[in-house]
Amino acid sequence: MLKLIFSLSLVGTLLFVGYAMWTERQKTITFDVSAYRVDDSHLQMADYSLISLGKRLFHDPRLSQNQEVSCASCHKLEHSFADSEPVSLGIKKTFVNAPPLINMQFQKWFFWDGRADNLVSQVLQPLMNPREHGLTPQSLAETFRIHYESEADFILKKATKINANRSIRDQQLNLEVAKALAAYVNSLVALESPFDRFMANYQANDEPNFVEGFGPDEWHGFQVFLGKARCASCHGGALFTDQDFYVTGLASEHRIHRPDAIQTLSQDPLRCFGKDDCTELPESSHPMSVRTPTLRNLVHTAPYLHDGSAPTIRDVLYRYMRPRPVEDRHQDITNLYLNALELNNLEKFLVSLTSPVRELGEQLEGKTQPSH
Ligand code: HEC
Ligand code: HEC
Repeated sequence: MLKLIFSLSLVGTLLFVGYAMWTERQKTITFDVSAYRVDDSHLQMADYSLISLGKRLFHDPRLSQNQEVSCASCHKLEHSFADSEPVSLGIKKTFVNAPPLINMQFQKWFFWDGRADNLVSQVLQPLMNPREHGLTPQSLAETFRIHYESEADFILKKATKINANRSIRDQQLNLEVAKALAAYVNSLVALESPFDRFMANYQANDEPNFVEGFGPDEWHGFQVFLGKARCASCHGGALFTDQDFYVTGLASEHRIHRPDAIQTLSQDPLRCFGKDDCTELPESSHPMSVRTPTLRNLVHTAPYLHDGSAPTIRDVLYRYMRPRPVEDRHQDITNLYLNALELNNLEKFLVSLTSPVRELGEQLEGKTQPSH
């Protein structure tokens, strides 16, 4: 892999003499998608039962205060599980743009401000958010008990002492609801784009052979992305995010406050749920910092940025070319001079990161469920 990285950097340097040389950090960026496990042959029927319960819950508007809002109201399959609004509508309008739900199983922090560090904690937050589903722990457990009676009975029989009180039983039910939703969200993967096919081929043959959807223009755009435009210093790696937080000044209106997120995270009773290693709270606590989003499947997820203020990919690129002079803005975001060809090809490269969203475990769909 290292050889590939250096050869990429060499080609970049030869093609664009005079452009910024790679930093040590850039040389270590790998775009090798095989680092991410997408093989679902190991999935057992029991995993699939949980995923399919999660899928039903995800699409069920009865899990909301007005019986009209489901997760799928704002996370739509045709938009890679984002939506097409600047901000989404639940019970009321949210403040920020809905991100796509792809490759979540590899994500370290959730939300634009990183206020959750695992999906079980994350999925409970929209359910309880008065602007989204508007439920309470009591009403969620009650709704689940009524509409998912056999699942609720099964969970309670397995988990609860006969005389546990109502609130403990509610907690147990809600935790299982969260685990099922998290299992479904975790099963959504999009890592099979033209770019990935090109890279796999490149690695095997050590020279760039173009594939459908990734030709000379996209290759040139990739060089601009890695070199002159410095995009890879934050959007590097196969997920196209380094999962860190930065001050960019890209959004028209800054709508999050990172210290609040760190505070929420430090007090979250479900912090590090299901993790072997509890990640230290991050240092990037600048009030204006925002998590680097993935750049996969952008063509499905307009509008862009956490405030949803950029209607097109091109508009985001223009903002990088003339960024607002906000205090403490990251050094890699400075006036960027791209000519029309570079701009076009950079955009084409971004488009080549599009792949269908796959639901892991689909091959088990329709097979007999184990009876409880
Ligand atoms: C009213 C619209 C709405 C509903 C309903 C909703 N979401 Fe979201 N979702 C959002 C928005 C907006 C964000 C970003 C919020 C933020 O960063 O503060 C988000 C963020 C997320 C994230 C984190 C993504 C990331 O990259 O960090 C996940 C996972 C998620 N939602 C799953 C769900 C699930 C599961 C449900 C149902 C229980 C749900 N959402 C219901 C709008 C919604
Ligand atoms: C210093 C880190 C950094 C650099 C360098 C950087 N980005 Fe970003 N990028 C971010 C952050 C953080 C956001 C989210 C900002 C926000 O929403 O307020 C973002 C947002 C985006 C978005 C919007 C994605 C979405 O889903 O809303 C696109 C597209 C994008 N960047 C592309 C690029 C390109 C192309 C380059 C190179 C010209 C680049 N980025 C350079 C950190 C960076």
